Amino acid sequence: MTMDGRGRAVVVTGAADGLGLAIATRFAELGDRVALLDIDGERLAASVRRLRAAGHQVAGFPADVTDETAVSDAVAAAVERFGPARVAVSNAGIAPNAPVLDCSKARWDRVIDVNLTGTFLFTRAVGRAMVDAGEGGAICCMSSGAHRLGRVGAAAYCASKAGIVMYAKVLAMELGEHGIRVNVVAPGFVDHGYREGLGDFVSGDYAEAMAAATPLNRRGAATDVAGAVEYLCSDAGGYISGAVLAVDGASSAGRFHIPWSGTERDPAPVDKRPPTERSSSPAGE
Ligand SMILES: NC(=O)c1ccc[n+]([C@@H]2O[C@H](COP(=O)([O-])OP(=O)(O)OC[C@H]3O[C@@H](n4cnc5c(N)ncnc54)[C@H](O)[C@@H]3O)[C@@H](O)[C@H]2O)c1
Repeated sequence: MTMDGRGRAVVVTGAADGLGLAIATRFAELGDRVALLDIDGERLAASVRRLRAAGHQVAGFPADVTDETAVSDAVAAAVERFGPARVAVSNAGIAPNAPVLDCSKARWDRVIDVNLTGTFLFTRAVGRAMVDAGEGGAICCMSSGAHRLGRVGAAAYCASKAGIVMYAKVLAMELGEHGIRVNVVAPGFVDHGYREGLGDFVSGDYAEAMAAATPLNRRGAATDVAGAVEYLCSDAGGYISGAVLAVDGASSAGRFHIPWSGTERDPAPVDKRPPTERSSSPAGE
């Protein structure tokens, strides 16, 4: 069940903007036929127009991922348009922050509904279509570094993103016999401009501080995440399922750093052999 033949049918949620749009664009540029799902019909239509103008085979399907009927209708319409999906990316997510003591039940419910229940509803609909088609496939779910490192003011978001990781692991186990792989991408801070619910804190001092705290010393780009998703959904990732791939410039690799006050490298070990026994190759070879 090879994954790399181009012209595959791909479905991406939350694809009108941000990471979802970058992911949809990556697959479209590779020659796949991409169905873009999003709750925001206007922005979706604008993004689809731009992609079509660039010569790509794409179509937009407005849907709220928390609406069970709308999701299954949109997936069915996408399958009718482009054929059985081989790749599905559950990316739609929101992050309206509030400290726990100030968090209303409505806010909590919306975050869990969009991020976690939306992932369930979409991957269930697309998973059923993949199983019916019998050609295998690859599903990728969007989590976040917040699945393993807590973030003050974002309990609902962190809980939803941790939930996605465990959900995807179980789905990977259940769909493995059908040749369907399920993986998770966990981005660190990716700056692609304004984000719904976060205002413009993603630029300016905060963004600079995040970049400085990242070992690769730069902010992530949407294309970094798109590349990781593409890899997981390709033959190169053919034996990867149930995995979580951090795309974060090593910002989750560790926390503490011990200052090094030395100014020079440690001296090289002294070669104690007589000069006649030394060769250009290192001792012992
Ligand atoms: N940008 C980052 O730094 C970052 C880091 C880690 C994880 N993520 C995750 O990546 C995903 C995309 O993030 P982003 O930065 O591109 O966000 P974004 O706000 O720029 O885009 C999200 C898209 O999802 C759509 N959407 C929102 N609610 C929806 C719903 N109910 N149904 C369908 N579509 C809906 C929005 O209309 C929007 O087009 C999210 O799941 C987010 O949690 C982002």
